[in-house]
Amino acid sequence: MKNFIFQNPTKLVFGKGQIAKLAQLIPADARLMITFGGGSVRKNGVYDQVKKALEGRVYTEFWGIEPNPTVETLSKAITQGKAEGVNFILAVGGGSVLDGTKLIAAGILYEGDAWDIVKRSTAERSIPYASVMTLPATGSEMNSGAVISRAETHEKYAFYTRYPEFSVLDPETTFSLPPEQIAAGLADVYVHVMEQYLTTTGQSRVMDRWAEGLLLTVLEIAPLIRKNQHDYDVMADFMLSATLALNDFIRMGVTQDWATHMIGHELTALHGITHGASLAIVLPGTMSVLREQKHGKLLQYASRVFGLNTGGEDERIEEAIKRTEEFFRSLGLATRLSEAGIGEETIEEIVERFNARGARLGEAGNVTGDVVREILKSRK
Ligand code: NZQ
Ligand code: ZN
Repeated sequence: MKNFIFQNPTKLVFGKGQIAKLAQLIPADARLMITFGGGSVRKNGVYDQVKKALEGRVYTEFWGIEPNPTVETLSKAITQGKAEGVNFILAVGGGSVLDGTKLIAAGILYEGDAWDIVKRSTAERSIPYASVMTLPATGSEMNSGAVISRAETHEKYAFYTRYPEFSVLDPETTFSLPPEQIAAGLADVYVHVMEQYLTTTGQSRVMDRWAEGLLLTVLEIAPLIRKNQHDYDVMADFMLSATLALNDFIRMGVTQDWATHMIGHELTALHGITHGASLAIVLPGTMSVLREQKHGKLLQYASRVFGLNTGGEDERIEEAIKRTEEFFRSLGLATRLSEAGIGEETIEEIVERFNARGARLGEAGNVTGDVVREILKSRK
């Protein structure tokens, strides 16, 4: 196991009716801004719950943070926040609202263009912020990352900042999610675990078992959610799995991959594909092209997650990759570029972008533009 430092300061406030605790959670003297997406929270009653919880408090609102939040939109919120002396932000919505809020919170203390913060990949300073998370997927509610797009140039990058002060997770808020967002969310959670698990064997028994536990949970609950997304306990497991998949818990002392995410972000930047849906296309390709390097871990995954213990090693690995793709398809997601209307030109454009950045992705730092081409070609 590698050396590591672990500290995750975010307070989780989990369960039915917990939005009512907002007034206790947000400092009484905060100059508060509340951020929202396109309006889902007005329809599902979350906005009313937030308003009721904060009755008598003074705050401003910023609406319209879009899926795959853009620096263009967020800059407007930063200007508003600076003008109003905002010193605490509450994000109410999905990962995009929260990620966008992370940039607003950093941008309020930054003098230049907020895109500088994204390009530098770290925010030096940020005002405190928190969330009411309504979509289990990104883990943004308990991590320090945010992924921001720039519409003008079709770019999309992650940056790192302070952690949320707290996140309120009420599984009932997820009952209104459209099925395609549930599918993308389940795929995102699954792939977050895979990025931190599918590297090499023998690094940490604890991390391996924890990751496998999350993968098995997602495989078990996915069909139950598709049958009834109003089942509180199942949605609670979905929400907690999403948080645990990307809150630093399963990456203590182990190497990580993230090539699938980097490639998926390019598909989203160029074609607007929903984040989780992009991963369902790319992951089977990463597994297949890097099967030699990941051989041992693929065999472990085949055995412990799918119970594949007989037959030749290559056969078991092939079957595990097939089952992974079948899982994504069972969610109703496309797993091929052609199904998403993406052709050869996009593959070359992505390869050029990675080459221009001198990218060397993955746990071994060997996923260059050429390997990315191979991965994407295998997904045609
Ligand atoms: O905008 P509104 O009207 O609120 O509607 C949203 C949006 O249209 C809707 N929605 C959210 N909660 C809902 C709901 N509709 C009904 N009922 C609810 N309870 O869902 C749509 C998608 O929302 P979005 O926030 O975009 O989805 P998600 O949470 O999957 O976030 C995706 C973004 O997070 C980034 C992705 O790249 C993408 O930009 N990621 C962030 C990560 C992080 N911070 O650590 C890691 C991830 O790998 C990911 O890259
Ligand atoms: Zn993701």
